[in-house]
Amino acid sequence: MINIVLFGKPGAGKGTQAEFLKGKFNLTHLSTGDIFRYNIKNNTELGLLAKTFMDKGDLVPDAVTIKMLQSEVDQHQDSAGFLFDGFPRTIAQAEALDAFLSSKNQQINVTLAIDADDDVLVKRLLQRGKTSGRPDDQDEEKIRNRYEEYNEKTAPLVAYYQKQNKYHAVDGIGTIAEVTERLTQVLKTIL
Ligand code: AP5
Ligand code: MG
Repeated sequence: MINIVLFGKPGAGKGTQAEFLKGKFNLTHLSTGDIFRYNIKNNTELGLLAKTFMDKGDLVPDAVTIKMLQSEVDQHQDSAGFLFDGFPRTIAQAEALDAFLSSKNQQINVTLAIDADDDVLVKRLLQRGKTSGRPDDQDEEKIRNRYEEYNEKTAPLVAYYQKQNKYHAVDGIGTIAEVTERLTQVLKTIL
């Protein structure tokens, strides 16, 4: 089994690249943001709870997110591996994921980071906000708050995965195809 964490700031291209990588490497793509949005669309209890955080650009509490992620993994027992997108986003989530996978005799094989500067990404998200309907893409203040959350709570994961020798970053600026190629090259040297 191959388990990959796709890592990057908001708007770095995690979801875009996951669409290509999941087919190439036969992986199940799990985006916690997409799963929350699906729940919001269907007015579930989880969706209503998550919405109060997401609309402001705040992270959803760890306990809620971890439980949801574990349940998604358990629903894909036959999967050849997972592409985790937007999870983990805190040290507590990363530790929970390591413990959860280890209880199944599995592990994270690699963390693939897509690097890009905040200013480029804020512009991308404002552009997407014109058509995406995502409340957290609508104004610069909410978008900036997502970067503050990232810097405070998610950035420490770089060191967490570097310590495990699992962190590999690629330049996220370029065409979508160029970034896919960079990520594929890293994966080929590891897998
Ligand atoms: P989430 O849905 O994960 O959003 P995000 O991380 O803020 O980032 P995006 O999904 O917006 O960006 P992306 O990196 O996937 O880029 P994309 O491919 O879309 O999370 C949303 C919220 O849910 C969080 O704020 C939080 O509240 C909650 N949440 C989710 N997970 C959580 C967790 N683990 N813990 C707690 N809370 C959690 O691309 C972005 C744009 O750029 C697109 O328009 C795309 O077309 C374009 N683009 C992509 N690549 C390129 C390129 N190479 N060149 C030019 N444009 C490009
Ligand atoms: Mg995404």
